[in-house]
Amino acid sequence: MDNHRKAKSHSHYDAIIIGAGASGLYCALTAGRRGRRVLVLDHANKVGKKILMSGGGRCNFTNYYVEPEHFISANQHFCKSALSRYPSWEFIGMVEQHKIAYHEREHGQLFCDDSAQDIVTMLLDECAAAGVQIRLNTQIEQVQVNKNNESEGFQLRTCKKLSKKEIAAEAQAPQTNYSCESLVIATGGLSIPTMGASGLGYELAQQFGHHLNPIDASLVPFTFTDKTGELIRSLAGISLPVIASNDRISFRLPLLFTHRGLSGPAMLQLSNYWQTGEYLSINLLPDTDIAALLLTHKNSHPKQLIRTVLADNTDNTLPKKLLTALQTTLWDDIKDKELANIKDERLSELGAAINGWQLKPSGTEGYRTAEVTRGGVITDEVSSKTMQSNYQNGLYFIGEVLDVTGWLGGYNFQWAWASGFVCGEVV
Ligand code: FDA
Repeated sequence: MDNHRKAKSHSHYDAIIIGAGASGLYCALTAGRRGRRVLVLDHANKVGKKILMSGGGRCNFTNYYVEPEHFISANQHFCKSALSRYPSWEFIGMVEQHKIAYHEREHGQLFCDDSAQDIVTMLLDECAAAGVQIRLNTQIEQVQVNKNNESEGFQLRTCKKLSKKEIAAEAQAPQTNYSCESLVIATGGLSIPTMGASGLGYELAQQFGHHLNPIDASLVPFTFTDKTGELIRSLAGISLPVIASNDRISFRLPLLFTHRGLSGPAMLQLSNYWQTGEYLSINLLPDTDIAALLLTHKNSHPKQLIRTVLADNTDNTLPKKLLTALQTTLWDDIKDKELANIKDERLSELGAAINGWQLKPSGTEGYRTAEVTRGGVITDEVSSKTMQSNYQNGLYFIGEVLDVTGWLGGYNFQWAWASGFVCGEVV
């Protein structure tokens, strides 16, 4: 036995939760309030790192209008039970009880007035009041079913995550074993690896016979190569309201051109529904039928140029730089021709191109910047009432590790709170 295996200790808990993020903390405080002996383990050096960075540091902690339609899953019905048992006003109630100032932004999104830290402090205070223990810097080395015990349960082998300094000094990592009746996997998805994301939840799910729906970065900006990429990069900084759509869904929200591609709420929302290789359609002037506008002007002002009509007569003027770039891409050959000399069909085609700019992303920015991971543990193999595994008694999955992905707008946190709550009621 090597040195670091010598200093062993062992503790038993009613419930151990792996992951001190949004869902894990909420599950912990719910179970703790019921008098359960709860331990939360996390390999990170801080709890709730994603909460802290969310909503630009103000945490969009929920939404006034939460409906199952705001979630994507292979089983659209799975989220309904938890969301109806833990509606957003429950969380708002806790926020108000803790006197955290908040405000509503468009589409019912609720943000802290001051800082996301307020939400983390609230969760930690509630956990402390409920007697929950939290151990950070803890690596999970092994999880096994405890067959010696009548009610089964689990055994966990963990070791302390050493600091860089300790590693340099060749310190030995002390090991601790735990056992518990209920084991809750709240390890989230793969987004933002620098914030502690890991695939442990998926690995544990597979260890216990669960299957995964393919996972991918989501709520993430799109990237482009070739000429389109160059064009987009040249417009970095421009933002405008658009309707972004594909065959399945459309969003009327702002679009943002960046040095890396297309971002902004319209793109992030659409990324939840995008598959590699698909085109996006972007209506750059959603309130104006451009084909009709150009054809009408051909009759009334036959000497005008296309760019003049577009600059002066649309409900939302296109930023000048974008208009010039579109001209170069879409009608460079006729840019100095008067409307009277352009065929109706060409004007109609041009209208369709501006009201439905077709773009094929080369990919997305990936997990490095994605807000969530879509896909995950298949929900048909988990109880929608309790989040318990259908295959292993006492094993639960909550939050983002499951194949439930919310829209942008506070829905992912609402799922974390709701799934954490219904699980915390039973573990
Ligand atoms: P979460 O990621 O919160 O927690 C998982 C925990 O498990 C982490 O503490 C991690 O360290 C730990 N863990 C992982 N692997 C482990 C291992 N091997 N061993 C031990 N511990 C391990 N949503 C929203 O509704 N409103 C918003 O404003 C935002 N904003 C936002 C911004 C950014 C930049 C990101 C990346 C994400 C958001 N989100 C969001 C999404 C939201 O943060 C996310 O959906 C929830 O935090 C998911 O909660 P979970 O508890 O499932 O995972």
